[in-house]
Amino acid sequence: MSGTSLDGIDGVIVRFSNEGLPQLVASHFSSFPTPLAEELLSLNAPGSNELERLHLCANKLSRLYASSVESLLQEAGLDPTSIAAIGCHGQTIRHRPDLGFTSQIFNPSLLAELTHIPVVADFRSRDIAAGGQGAPLVPAFHNAIFSSDHAHRAIVNIGGISNITFLPVNSPVLGFDCGPGNLLMDGWVRRHLHLNYDRNGDWAASGSVNLGLLEAMHDHPFISMSPPKSTGRDDFHLDWLDSLPVDLIDPVDVQATLLEFTSRCIADSLNQHCSAADEVYICGGGSHNTHLIQRISALLTTRTVQTTEVLGMPPDWVEAVAFAWLARQTMLKLPGNLPSVTGASGPRVLGAIYAS
Ligand SMILES: Nc1ncnc2c1ncn2[C@@H]1O[C@H](COP(=O)(O)OP(=O)(O)OP(=O)(O)O)[C@@H](O)[C@H]1O
Ligand SMILES: [Mg+2]
Repeated sequence: MSGTSLDGIDGVIVRFSNEGLPQLVASHFSSFPTPLAEELLSLNAPGSNELERLHLCANKLSRLYASSVESLLQEAGLDPTSIAAIGCHGQTIRHRPDLGFTSQIFNPSLLAELTHIPVVADFRSRDIAAGGQGAPLVPAFHNAIFSSDHAHRAIVNIGGISNITFLPVNSPVLGFDCGPGNLLMDGWVRRHLHLNYDRNGDWAASGSVNLGLLEAMHDHPFISMSPPKSTGRDDFHLDWLDSLPVDLIDPVDVQATLLEFTSRCIADSLNQHCSAADEVYICGGGSHNTHLIQRISALLTTRTVQTTEVLGMPPDWVEAVAFAWLARQTMLKLPGNLPSVTGASGPRVLGAIYAS
């Protein structure tokens, strides 16, 4: 899995059985070299010679995915024949369900060639073809492993974008993207402090929230949309932030306001659409941002907020395990989407299989 934060690759080997939690056999994170992260970021916006740049970048990315697989196999002491399939999400460079497409780039043929393992790719397009958003896809997995017969649970993933899965007892699953997760805070801290992210939200915590700017952020049209809805860098990027009155505000106060905006997108979504949730569990890199988690918890005074660690799944690996699970669904010819979440006209077997 490599998500919208553009931080790097989360790799996992997962063993599935028909009972109990999937077992995490090995995990490995490799960060993107800065030039690759920059090229991927630039492919998120229109530019010259995109087609060639896209394919060259996809090949580079696939070689990195392959070395991540190699590290995992070494860590686990396994060889490729023990692996049923690789589920690889690819790197999103456009997500436009409104125009009927989404694009997660990498070269699945090259990855299969380099690893000698079947590769499952392009998880989102089939759901969009069936009239859905193509996202979020993780709720089906959250439902399979985190649902409870006595508590209404909400799972909140804070990656580049934040998304919620609501698992009410005896009712259909709800899931949607809330808006930004880490991506705006990451972009701003990169521009001003030349750091990849604001560790623990310390820089944001040292500033003051600008209420005028916060209100302007909330005017973003995505915020008031009702689910099913999904988003990405197409909607939330620094050019959008620059179109707001940030020039007259101290950068540290902009960071404080971005953290407050992100917390409110998540808390407001929970309050509006998951008001019956008894328990909230956080996963994704944003679970390490202590200031962000404190603000979300404060805005949700009546619920317990913990990480998925207490459910037996380390928060850093949930999304990667989810794509292993989605690949398994595809290999077993089982659906991976939840129409109640994506808005698709029915359950679909997702993706394409590239044989080893
Ligand atoms: N100690 C920390 N303090 C603050 N933020 C952190 C910390 N550790 C990680 N993060 C944030 O988490 C981000 C990475 O999160 P993650 O890998 O879940 O996102 P992603 O790659 O977009 O994933 P996905 O799209 O699968 O949800 C980093 O870019 C950073 O913003
Ligand atoms: Mg990541």
